[in-house]
Amino acid sequence: MPTPPSDLHLQDKRWETIDRVMRRHDFRQDALIETLHAAQDAFGYLDADTLRHIAARLKTPPSKVYGVVTFYNHFKTKPKGEHTLVVCTGTACHVKGNDRVLAWMEEHYQLKPGDTTTDNRISLLEVRCVGACALAPVVIADGSIIAKKSLAESTAMIREWLNDAA
Ligand code: FES
Repeated sequence: MPTPPSDLHLQDKRWETIDRVMRRHDFRQDALIETLHAAQDAFGYLDADTLRHIAARLKTPPSKVYGVVTFYNHFKTKPKGEHTLVVCTGTACHVKGNDRVLAWMEEHYQLKPGDTTTDNRISLLEVRCVGACALAPVVIADGSIIAKKSLAESTAMIREWLNDAA
């Protein structure tokens, strides 16, 4: 089994979600696009490990998977920024206030999910449940999880993480 993408070394149930999509299609190759959508929804982008995993599970040549991913503009193979903040907006995290983290990011960095700052410093991604609902609200900063924090604590950690005294 391929190594999960770097920010997924937690209790990563996102792989299960993706596998469920493939299983629903009996791991047929025609599940490729739906699976890629599910993976991007889960991770925010599709890195090489994710693509290798999907190719192996669907018994599809990796070249074909890369071909599809690069053909459609919708698919992203990496976040653009030097730093990546992933905000979980699944139900548990939404209820516990992650929408306010997104609002804060917009207010302070003029970033909406999917955006990168003009200096390419920070990319903001939004994903549905990362499978760690017991830790909600969950934010992942360059692969490190920020969990169970109030808005003030989360934003302070994000500021610190970005070395931003503003
Ligand atoms: S909703 Fe955020 S981890 Fe499940």
